Amino acid sequence: MTRLVVVSNRVSIPEEGKPQAGGLAVAITGALSEHGGLWFGWDGRVKQVPSNRPSVVTRDNIDYATLSLSKEDYDNYYLGFANEVLWPVFHFNLGAMDFQLDHVKAYSRVNARFAEALVTLVQGDELIWVHDYHLLPLGKELRERGIRQPLGFFLHIPFPSFDLLRALPCYRELLEDLLHYDLVGFQTENDRHAFHEALVETFDATLEGDNVIDCLGHRLRTGVYPVGIDVDEAIAEAEHAITQAPACQFQADLGKRDLIIGADRLDYSKGLVQRFNAIETLLTHFKHRRQRTIFMQIASPSRSAIPEYDELRRQLEGMAGHINGTYADIDWLPVHYLNQTYAHADLMGLFRAARVGLVTPLRDGMNLVCKEFVAAQDPDDPGVLVLSDLAGAARELSGALLVNPYDVHDITSAIERALNMPRDERRQRYREMIDVLRRNSLLTWRQRFIDDLAQQAG
Ligand code: G6P
Repeated sequence: MTRLVVVSNRVSIPEEGKPQAGGLAVAITGALSEHGGLWFGWDGRVKQVPSNRPSVVTRDNIDYATLSLSKEDYDNYYLGFANEVLWPVFHFNLGAMDFQLDHVKAYSRVNARFAEALVTLVQGDELIWVHDYHLLPLGKELRERGIRQPLGFFLHIPFPSFDLLRALPCYRELLEDLLHYDLVGFQTENDRHAFHEALVETFDATLEGDNVIDCLGHRLRTGVYPVGIDVDEAIAEAEHAITQAPACQFQADLGKRDLIIGADRLDYSKGLVQRFNAIETLLTHFKHRRQRTIFMQIASPSRSAIPEYDELRRQLEGMAGHINGTYADIDWLPVHYLNQTYAHADLMGLFRAARVGLVTPLRDGMNLVCKEFVAAQDPDDPGVLVLSDLAGAARELSGALLVNPYDVHDITSAIERALNMPRDERRQRYREMIDVLRRNSLLTWRQRFIDDLAQQAG
């Protein structure tokens, strides 16, 4: 079997003797241990003078090779270009874009530096699989340094429609960068279509069938690979977690009250402001929900050095305080707002205790929280998923109540409907969704991409 090299901005190195944490990281590690291989990227550290020689550790036959970033590159590449330019534009939020030349330069510099270090580690016969928007130019940088083996790229976030993409001053260069991969994968057909359209409009590319592109002398293949979860693992984790602290205790404290839960990174793309407004509207207009309902929002801190993220944190604190100030009673607090990161198992236990899962991003490549919420449910008496129609997962999970995440009343009505939904209907919807999750599992995602990339070697 061909050796595999995975490249991503963040590398998840398991502690010695401990299992890998996080679904995607487990899937990637699984592929690496099957094929033998290397995971390369940023070690998450910022150093005054970072070395250009990657530090390599080996765990269970997998090499993890990482570089640190300088403060300037952290500010301009990671925060600046990746998360203040690409992230907002690719999530359809042009207002949050902060385009600066220093950001562009740092983005190119770090991608070149990654490529320079990576070529010293590869042997020449492996498959190279690059992940996500931080590394769009890496393929080109590797090709320029003589790399000839198959290069695949997978975009975890949405690909913007051409009109949005055009607002990005350097969009031509970024599109051209992607042409150097042999295979470019997307979460949904919609994303792939937007990519094709951008290439046709910009470079007059030719499409052969629905997955081969001829463009500027490059020939590449595209594919749709919706990321999934390990369903059996998620079910087992939720079943166990609900018998343990803290979920077990929380469920007991809930008593007859219904739990509505949301769990996201604290990010403006997650639609949290509209979600909080929907909860307020529920308590205002559906008075019978007062005292009987608890909304728990877990918002794990993320990219807090970026002003929009810090501003959102303050806004949500204000909204939670306002709703509680208006509606709370001596024995009831309607909003539990938790600005912390919790262990995955704790989240799964809380999902199982909930009657409604609220996953209402304004835009999301896929969204795995909604899939985990479904897997966490008791099949006999499952809760209901209220899902944004603008998340990639909505294309698969038609058993959810789909809402427009900008429409507060739509979200409120869906919550009310979910809380009133008869058990038979809940079970039916659960079964539909769990079947889809089993069909499009994390393993399928990984295997399909790797198989398609391996075909490019021939
Ligand atoms: C999204 C991106 C990932 C990223 C993650 C966490 O899911 O698609 O590439 O790693 O957010 O964001 P962070 O900025 O902390 O890496």
